[in-house]
Amino acid sequence: MTQDELKQAVARAALDYVVEGKIVGVGTGSTANCFIDALAEIKDRIAGAVASSEATRKRLEGHGIRVFDLNDVTELPVYIDGADEINARMHMIKGGGGALTREKIVAAVAEKFVCIADGSKLVPVLGKFPLPVEAIPMARAQIMRELASLGGTPVVRDGFVTDNGNLIIDLKGLEIADPAALETRLNQIVGVVTNGIFACRPADVCLLGTGEGVKILTAS
Ligand code: A5P
Repeated sequence: MTQDELKQAVARAALDYVVEGKIVGVGTGSTANCFIDALAEIKDRIAGAVASSEATRKRLEGHGIRVFDLNDVTELPVYIDGADEINARMHMIKGGGGALTREKIVAAVAEKFVCIADGSKLVPVLGKFPLPVEAIPMARAQIMRELASLGGTPVVRDGFVTDNGNLIIDLKGLEIADPAALETRLNQIVGVVTNGIFACRPADVCLLGTGEGVKILTAS
């Protein structure tokens, strides 16, 4: 199976987690796009969706799926999104597409986080994928110094502006032994909006696409 076929397989499997008559939280990226396309087939059975980015909002609306403002939503049974890396404890690195802050906000509201990923995303230790950090532009230089002091190499993502009008700094070369501790520490840096470690609120389940089919993983 190609990587694209694996993404489509996990996207389709995620439909089992969508709660009939309710609003579903929808992530960002190529795997989430496969999910949106699959969701369109059952759009009459859901109330609508909450989007984690402008790109996702446009794709959902393009399929005729109603998109709600998160502030108007009191109940969100499930959030479905991809990941750049995920470990056996369901900690993730996200934000390769730069939507990490809105993704983390929607995930915080949702009762259940379902991660959909092809098998290449499962890693023993997070950090090979550069860790995205969303930064307020005027704090860029100071944040770069602070990130460098952690031992990694911070690189500003060239020409990229987030949906919130901020920068992304990718932190390369870190081996993340304690994801929850680093997530918390990075968020203490003044001017950091959030970072792409999702460990304080990990996924509840991961649908992993493999050559042997879709595996259902939970934290071990
Ligand atoms: C978007 O900001 C990211 O968090 C994506 O969810 C993540 O990068 C996975 O993207 P792909 O499904 O395109 O690999």
